[in-house]
Amino acid sequence: MTMYNTLKPTLFVFLVILLTSGQFKLSATELSIIPKPNQIVVSKGEFTFTPTTTIYVNENSATNVAQYFEHLLNPATGFKLTIKEYSTGQFQKNSVYLIIDKSMKQAEGYQLNVTSEHITVTAKTAKGLFYGVQTVRQLLPAKIEQQFPINNVRWSVPAVQIKDNPRFAYRGMHLDVGRHFYSVEFIKKYIDLIALHKLNKFHWHLTEDQGWRIEIKQYPKLTTVGGYRDGTVYGHPWDENTRNDKVNYGGFYSQAEIKDIVAYAKERFVTIIPEIDLPGHTVAALAAYPELACSGKSFNVRSKWGVSKDVLCPSETTFTFIENVLNEVMDLFPSEYIHIGGDEAPKDRWKASPLAQQVIKDNHLKDEFELQSYFIKRLEKMLNKRNRKLIGWDEILEGGLSDTATVMFWRSWGENKKHIQQVLEQGNPVIMTPVSHLYFDYYQSESMDEPLVWGAYLPLKKVYSYDPVFDGLTDKQAQHVMGAQGNLWTEYIQTERMVEYQSQPRMAAVAELTWSAKQDKSWSSFITRLDKHFNRLTAMDVNASTSVYNVYGEFSEDKKTITLNTDGENHRIRYTIDGSQPTHQSAVYHAPINLDKTLHIRAIAENKETLQHFGDYKQSYINHLAVNKEITFMGETSANLHALGREILTDGIISHNRHTIRNKWFGEKNKTMIAIIDLESATKVSKVTFGFQPEKGIRMISPKQTIVDVSTDGQHWDNLALHETSNAYNSGQSSIEIAFSSHKARYIRLTTVEGYRFDEIIVE
Ligand code: ACM
Repeated sequence: MTMYNTLKPTLFVFLVILLTSGQFKLSATELSIIPKPNQIVVSKGEFTFTPTTTIYVNENSATNVAQYFEHLLNPATGFKLTIKEYSTGQFQKNSVYLIIDKSMKQAEGYQLNVTSEHITVTAKTAKGLFYGVQTVRQLLPAKIEQQFPINNVRWSVPAVQIKDNPRFAYRGMHLDVGRHFYSVEFIKKYIDLIALHKLNKFHWHLTEDQGWRIEIKQYPKLTTVGGYRDGTVYGHPWDENTRNDKVNYGGFYSQAEIKDIVAYAKERFVTIIPEIDLPGHTVAALAAYPELACSGKSFNVRSKWGVSKDVLCPSETTFTFIENVLNEVMDLFPSEYIHIGGDEAPKDRWKASPLAQQVIKDNHLKDEFELQSYFIKRLEKMLNKRNRKLIGWDEILEGGLSDTATVMFWRSWGENKKHIQQVLEQGNPVIMTPVSHLYFDYYQSESMDEPLVWGAYLPLKKVYSYDPVFDGLTDKQAQHVMGAQGNLWTEYIQTERMVEYQSQPRMAAVAELTWSAKQDKSWSSFITRLDKHFNRLTAMDVNASTSVYNVYGEFSEDKKTITLNTDGENHRIRYTIDGSQPTHQSAVYHAPINLDKTLHIRAIAENKETLQHFGDYKQSYINHLAVNKEITFMGETSANLHALGREILTDGIISHNRHTIRNKWFGEKNKTMIAIIDLESATKVSKVTFGFQPEKGIRMISPKQTIVDVSTDGQHWDNLALHETSNAYNSGQSSIEIAFSSHKARYIRLTTVEGYRFDEIIVE
């Protein structure tokens, strides 16, 4: 009896420790595998690697995977594991088995069995084994990624049984090395990240207006001339501080380096799909070989961003050039698919070119779009001759798509989705890379400390929500969806650290939306697993963005309140309303904030355990006289103003100066705008302010003149102010404030002559 009484609490404590330490109850989510495997059963115990752990393989093709695994484990553990052949017989203790089983069905699938005695990965192919190894890697402590030995870590993997297989065959990441150039070492690191996430395609965008990055032996000037530009533009065209640094910039990959990278990718079961962008995005090539243009003029490698009207001329000289280039490309890249671009090729030069017009006539083509189709089809033949297949951006639909081309869908706006559905109906394979969800040169949060990028707003949650089989596809159409890819264009991505920042952890979302079964996708599970995934990325020395934790705001439909949110599960929000920087002492956010007075909200997300701060959210609300009042427009204002004026210009909400995140402003150069605001009753007015908050440098398009008139009946107007702005466009001002002697009026009319840009008309 006495024994029992003393034992009972001890046993109880022991059980509680076991349960809470997770030995019995590790859930699939806690295991933190990304992408989420199809089936996981967690059991008791763990396998621990030691210096004498042996890796067994049953086939030669598995040896490379075993060697890869051994190299992966070596730096952090210091272990040099032995690799041995396995034929038959009992599994040994303290061993890892990589077993090819040809009777298995799925080429990329695998089964993983971890017990305290051994780890077994079984797959039909070496590729499947490789993915099994990636899962084991993710089950090991994150420190396994470190490139130097650590002594005090148990290199253990929890006991699990996993069955896994990808949803899509094409699981890709893209990188533009034309706008900015990254080292060979970095390209390998990017490929490592692709492999970690069980992605299998690296779309390498190698040529651009701003730089040709692949050595072509027959045309050396492509890289000696086309590989370098004489300056780079910083800032957006609409920013105040845009500048061209006038510094020579460039670089290229030699064929030897490319072979090395291709071999590196192959070891990781990543196929590199090279893109030679044709016939547009070729100014760097034209700078090297101007005879490829229709015009006969000379060119400089482009230092500005945007689409160039200068494209390749559809001459025989050009086709010979392309065939020679593609042949060298095909010699270097074993990929079945070669990407020939096809995007953003304006037709201006072809319209003006007698040669291009002659090609149209000789080939009985209807117009320049059919000429583009003719152009692309000739390229496809060059590839087909060597048993390769063509991928092009969705512009290759224009003027007629070949039956066999694969289309990479990016223009997710307007009617394009319908067009891509028709392509799927026709049976052409399609790879989904929509601007709406998979363009990673967009902002990851609304925080003011996000680095400058191209524009728009694409939080991780939105990336994760993408389904490559989008709503409305029939089963037949869905069969031709090959998969999806994240794209990283690099106009604003000057450094390798920044490539990491913009692509991670978005790559994890791409992994899950291309690999995991649709019914297994769960944002809350993903965000929980991501916590641990960040540790792995950090151990890999990857500068992953934690913007997913940053605060974002949502206005109620009636704009009477604003709700603050964070997607972090372990975070609370602290905020101020006077524009001061929030601290650990600031108010904790609990409920929507009423918009009934002027507020300058700033907010951060705070990790409840570590107290680490995330983001710098700012949002102002100005409670001025015109808020929610009717606004009408006259004169040459755009239709948009009529439709959205009240929504945006008199809602009290000051848009982000990063207006590309919250695209809520209007502006037009040289246009005159007349706005009439109805204050509903006679009201004292003394000031009108419009433009932007000055802090973040968007350039105002100042009107030449601004006129303020008021009226009591909307018929008879009294002029109160006439404000002249000198040097309109480059005034550097971000807002214009017009004060006048106080006046009682119901209607206020604002006329901006030849230019305006603002997000709110503030009446006080
Ligand atoms: C593209 O974004 N021009 C494919």
